[in-house]
Formats: sequence, C-alpha cells, structure tokens
Amino acid sequence: MKILFVTPELAPWSKAGGLGDATAALGKALAALGHEVRAVTPLYGSVPGREQMGTLVESLKVGVGGDPRRAACRVRTLPVSPGFETWFIEHEDFYGAREIYPAREDAGERAAFFGRAGLDACLATSWIPDVIHCHDWTAGLVPVLLNTTLKPTALGGARSVLSIHNLQHQGLQPRRLMAYLGLPEFLWHPQELECLGGVNFLKGGILHAGKVITVSPTYAKEILTPAFGYGLDEVVRRRAGALTGILNGVDRDEWDPATDKHIAKAFSAAKPAGKDECKTALLRELGLPTDDDLPLVGVISRLWDQKGLDLAAGVLPRFLREQKLRFVLLGSGDAALENEYRRLAADFPRHCAVRIGYDNGLSHRIEAGSDFFLMPSRFEPCGLNQMYSMAYGTLPIVRATGGLADTVTGWDGRDHGTGIVFEHADQGGIAWALERALALYARPQAFKALRKQAMKQDFSWAKAAEAHLAVYRSA
Ligand code: ADP
Ligand code: GLC
Repeated sequence: MKILFVTPELAPWSKAGGLGDATAALGKALAALGHEVRAVTPLYGSVPGREQMGTLVESLKVGVGGDPRRAACRVRTLPVSPGFETWFIEHEDFYGAREIYPAREDAGERAAFFGRAGLDACLATSWIPDVIHCHDWTAGLVPVLLNTTLKPTALGGARSVLSIHNLQHQGLQPRRLMAYLGLPEFLWHPQELECLGGVNFLKGGILHAGKVITVSPTYAKEILTPAFGYGLDEVVRRRAGALTGILNGVDRDEWDPATDKHIAKAFSAAKPAGKDECKTALLRELGLPTDDDLPLVGVISRLWDQKGLDLAAGVLPRFLREQKLRFVLLGSGDAALENEYRRLAADFPRHCAVRIGYDNGLSHRIEAGSDFFLMPSRFEPCGLNQMYSMAYGTLPIVRATGGLADTVTGWDGRDHGTGIVFEHADQGGIAWALERALALYARPQAFKALRKQAMKQDFSWAKAAEAHLAVYRSA
C-alpha cells in the first residue's frame, strides 16, 4: 500500500510527547512490512540537519486562501528507513520558530496549511496514496477536504483514517478557516464542523475519516462516555462502528536496555545485573546519596492536568519526610506545578531531585535507573513510558485508565504482575499505590519476579502495524 501520514510530530525531528514517537515507529514498522510510507510534517525551526535534505518540490503552490505570498512552500525530503520518507513542509512564517504548538493568532491556518500542502505535494508529484492516515487535531480537516473540495481530484479515491492520540486537544479555530481551506458552506453546521462558534478540527476528522483509530482498546471505550469525551463523546458515538483501539508499542531501536547508548551499563532480562549500576549512576548524576537502599520512583512527563501530577505533589511530601523512598521528576509544562516540584526538591534535598525541561538522554537514564515509574493519569489514551519502564525492568505504578489499564497487570500480592495498578484518580489512590510499591520492594523475591515479567512483555510495533493494516484495508 501507499500510505501518507499527516502529523505535527515525528521523532526524532519533532516531539512534544508520545505522538512523535508513535508516528515515527509506526511508519518504520509499516515500511518494514513492505509498504511505501511518506510522512508530511512541518519543518520547525528546531529541526536540525536541513543541509542533508533533498527537495521534492522547490516551490509548491498550496490551495489555501489568504495572502497569496504566504500560500507557497518548499517540500524537503529525508529518508527515515527503507520505504519510509519524510516530506518536510518548509514555510518560514508558519514553522520557522522552534515551538511545535505556539499560542498564535494564526494557529488554525498554521495547522491547516501543512496538511493541505501534503495533499498538493501528492497531486504535484502524482504520488497518489491508497490511505491517508491523519494524526490528532492539526490533521483533522484533511479527511474533510478529501470528502468535499478534493473529491473530484486524483486524491478523491484515497481512503482516510484518523488516529485520536488525545481527545482533549481538539483545535477549536475561528470560522474563517472554512474559507481559508475552501470548504463548502454546508459544513458550517452543529452536526458538522461547527462547535461553540468556531470550527472544530478534530470533530471534522472524526466525522469524515473513513475509519477512526485510537491508541488503546480501553480508551476507545472511554471516549464514548461524557467523562472522557471532552464534549465530543456524542460525535464519537456517531462513529462507534468505525472506531478501533490499537495499542502503541515500544521502538526497540530507541528503547532497549541491552543497546541503549544513554545509560551507564547495559542490561537485559537474562543479564539484569547492570541495572543496579544504572541506579547508582543516576543517583550520582542527580546529586542524591547512594549509601542506602531506598526505592527510587521516577517520573518523566508533561506537567499537564491529564497526568495527575498535581495530585501526586500532595502525597509525596509525607513519603519523603518519612524517608521511605527517593523521587526524581523530569518534566515541564504548567508553571505553578513546575514551581511546586522545584519546592519539593528544595524541601527534601537528600530524597528528591527535580529537573524542569526536556532532556532525552536523562529520560533514558531515569527509565534505566529507577525501581518504579509513577503515572497517576486522570486519563491516558495509551501512554508510552509505562511500556518503556517495563522494558527497563522499572515497575510502573499506574492508574487503571486507557492504555495504562491495557498494558500493566497489577501485583497480585504474591509473585505475579508487571506493576502496581490503582483505581481512583485522587490522593488516596496514589498514596495507596505508593504504599503497595513499598510493600513489594520489601519482598525482594516477589520484586525480582515482577521485574522479570515486566521485562518479558512484548509491545511490538510490528503487531501494531499489522492491526493498522487491517483497518486500512477495511477502509
Ligand atoms: P504524552 O504523549 O501524553 O505526553 P506518552 O507517555 O505517550 O505521553 O509519551 C511521552 C513521551 O515524551 C515519552 O517518550 C517521554 O519519555 C517523553 N517526554 C515527556 N516529557 C519529557 C521530558 N521532559 N524530557 C524528555 N522526554 C520527555
Ligand atoms: C498522546 C497521549 C498518550 C499517547 C500518545 C501517543 O499524547 O496523551 O497517551 O501515548 O499520544 O499515541
């Protein structure tokens, strides 16, 4: 099949969260199965190495309204893996700055532009995909274009698939986006794109895509309900028959403790010894003592209400004061929460380290060096870090929601399980789970057995790619 991805993130060139990892790994896995994959994505100012890129189209006229001087771009190419190529949309005004999701007045145009540019690049080069797979809200109006404005073109026969990686971010944009993309007026209707006086990109994608995927079976059920639907549950229910949940995977090229270049010592399920060295090295790097045997709990996360780390901040002081565990957090986001965690590190300098910012190398060392990994998410479409954690023998402590519920088996109190699972997104739930983790750590045999089971889990992208192909075929 010829498959075009439309995505705002593609690791390692751009990544704000798991979306970048997921699109890159899925593209590679599909190409490895013999399919032809292209990913269209913006060339952000932060993307390095443009000198090495090729040019697919030197000057592409893009079918958008507005100022005609802003309606052209260059399309750069870069091979990712055999059969998988990136099409970078180069447009200084829109993407020249470093940020992936800046708060800008033209955020809607900026999102709409690269999707439409990808479609125009297909038409200009006569590379006509069988399937156009759109990822999250920025790509949401692509299926709408294919069903309407572009129906009479060579792309009219292409099938569209939308992946919802996160229903909270929908892209509610001004009505003028309709004219910008040349969309027909009948779509301005509450049963269509209209939402709270604007155009809802994700709603358009959900309604118009041939098939809708989300990133875990449990989240696929949750988003049918008002509690998880963020106002779109009724829209999702309209497409329930076209909706499938497919788990993300672990990209073993990036996340494998046996070959990881970022960590102090390699290890594996068969040869686990190196993990202790990774823990000691991490504690040293963080300036924490190494002379006692407290469990180390790690977090790597966007600091956003979704992740429940505001709740954890209320629970951790007691555990740190009682010197029951050590804690490390790497993350950024909400400024108030960043400060709360900075304060926690200042209050407990021997037991807590906090790094505000984005650091890929350190994220690998936290996965390798921690004993537990905390994800108290209020909702979690899939979540990647709990799977990375298991691969590194770090037991995830997760709330039973979305992909967390689908990937982690809670400790049974004896020697079975792959982590700690708790039900309630509140401080009591987190405290209960941390106590349980401490109880497990105090039983070395059981702890070792769970660690082994966790490391043996197979979250392969090859499996996920097969499941995606089945959806593409059914589309
Ligand atoms: P989400 O996409 O909702 O943020 P995921 O668990 O799917 O959650 O993916 C998050 C990804 O982003 C992981 O690969 C994680 O390691 C990475 N990540 C998040 N915050 C940081 C950070 N501050 N530094 C490095 N990597 C980070
Ligand atoms: C989103 C979700 C996360 C998921 C990721 C990749 O950012 O919040 O749960 O793992 O997308 O699909």
